[in-house]
Amino acid sequence: MKQHIEKLVEKQREALLGGGTKRIEKQHAKGKLTARERIDYLLDVGSFEEMGMLVTHRTTDFGMQEEVYYGDGVITGHGTIGGRLIYIFAQDFTVFGGSLSETHAEKICKILDLAMKTGAPVIGLNDSGGARIQEGVRSLGGYADIFYRNVQASGSIPQISAIMGPCAGGAVYSPAMTDFTLMVEGSSYMFVTGPNVVKTVTNETVTSEQLGGAQTHAAKSGVAHLTAPNDVVCLDQVKQLLSYLPQNYRVKPEQIDFVFGDEIRYELDDIIPESPNQPYDMHEIIAGIIDSDTFFEIHKDYAENIIVGFARLGGRSIGIIANQPMVLAGCLDVNSSKKAARFTRFCDCFNIPILVLVDVPGFLPGTDQEWNGIIVNGAKLLYALSEASVPRISVITRKAYGGAYDVMNSKHIGADMNYAFPCAEIAVMGAKGASEIIFKKEIAAAHDPDAKLKELEADYAKKFANPYSATQRGFVDEVILPHNARRKLIKAFGILENKSIEAPKKKHGNIPL
Ligand code: HXC
Repeated sequence: MKQHIEKLVEKQREALLGGGTKRIEKQHAKGKLTARERIDYLLDVGSFEEMGMLVTHRTTDFGMQEEVYYGDGVITGHGTIGGRLIYIFAQDFTVFGGSLSETHAEKICKILDLAMKTGAPVIGLNDSGGARIQEGVRSLGGYADIFYRNVQASGSIPQISAIMGPCAGGAVYSPAMTDFTLMVEGSSYMFVTGPNVVKTVTNETVTSEQLGGAQTHAAKSGVAHLTAPNDVVCLDQVKQLLSYLPQNYRVKPEQIDFVFGDEIRYELDDIIPESPNQPYDMHEIIAGIIDSDTFFEIHKDYAENIIVGFARLGGRSIGIIANQPMVLAGCLDVNSSKKAARFTRFCDCFNIPILVLVDVPGFLPGTDQEWNGIIVNGAKLLYALSEASVPRISVITRKAYGGAYDVMNSKHIGADMNYAFPCAEIAVMGAKGASEIIFKKEIAAAHDPDAKLKELEADYAKKFANPYSATQRGFVDEVILPHNARRKLIKAFGILENKSIEAPKKKHGNIPL
């Protein structure tokens, strides 16, 4: 027996070294942790159980039989984070640059299958040179096997991808189909075709960082939901994100213990300016409503005219969608609609109630928006919210105009509770635009058209720029004092805890993609 034990221990020792100490040093020199160090940092101490440690590739082309490493470039297994079961794979760049072989893919598929069967989140730490070039089409098949499972798992268990090195070619589509993509600044990039191909095909000169670095995907493409300055912060973000999510679609996120006593927040009375045209930072309203310091913003640098993120309210995990008057006056446009729609659908998949804070003057006008499909993209948000069966509550903090009023979780599209602050303006359009249209003749005939417009505008504003017409009709359930918002919302989400609605029978809806 002793001999057998020694043999196994020797194999395990070899596996722990991955591609060897030289390559580990190279990884460290780039400021990156190794795959094993990442797993050790992310998971609860001693909780990691590795699966497939001694798997090796089966390739004999190009003399590959001479170069065999245990694990084959990916470390897979399960463990716990904050005591909760998770499955994890971490690509090991020290073994063939973390490239994906047939066996490497099989290991990832195995944990995806187990995660689905046992209803636990999957975390993928990506650091890979892409398809294992020596394996050709077998590697492509391996990718597709993973993609297929990502889709089967979608909406069933949370899937989180951290990009901690290269991620290029078709490899990008696995993270793209998971729920959240995090990127490390400076050391990670994602693109379908790299700078060399771009130069050949379009004659553009661009660096990897410009083409697909963390900032590019955080601010321009929206591919990255979160970015971090280094591996450690990125892994901390994964932990934080996970804390708001449930294990799977069958259960609710954990409600943490909460000591009440701060439900009234007078600071909320002083945030919204007297002038309806003066911007304010919606983050202040969010901070005034939620449990202190619990806002975890997603897609912070992308489509900043809408804010989305997770928070806790009375200990309960909620998703927040809020117009941001500081950017484009909070208008809805193509990107903000897509951003909020995707977030809505995630929350709905995983039983996370949604709070919508509304201050929207309408959809952003212009050829750019129309030609880029504001119709179909705005419809994504309308569809996603209308479809969401989780508890949904709105607070109109100031403006709710036109079609955007309907879209932003109005009563008509199934919101459960609709509140408005006393300064809310709920109308078909702004007083100036409305007066110019309906009083066109009177204004033209007046001695002083400007003065007449101002007078008619004031009349219109008095009549419609308030929350009371909507309240009389029941479109708004209650006009609330801002300092009372937190108390009202904690209660309202409490009574909606067991909300249950049956969707009409069908295979699936056809969201305007
Ligand atoms: C096999 C690979 C590899 C790959 C890197 N290596 N990529 N081995 N298949 N795809 C190996 C290298 O030979 C090297 O081995 C080690 O990994 C580290 O690579 P370096 O080049 O030394 O590292 P670095 O300078 O940091 O550059 C990293 C890199 C570069 C930018 C990722 O290696 C690279 O360009 N690789 C090829 C990328 C690529 O074209 N992949 C295929 C894309 S097509 P040694 O022994 O020296 O340590 C694709 C299709 C997917 O992925 C389709 C899915 C549907």
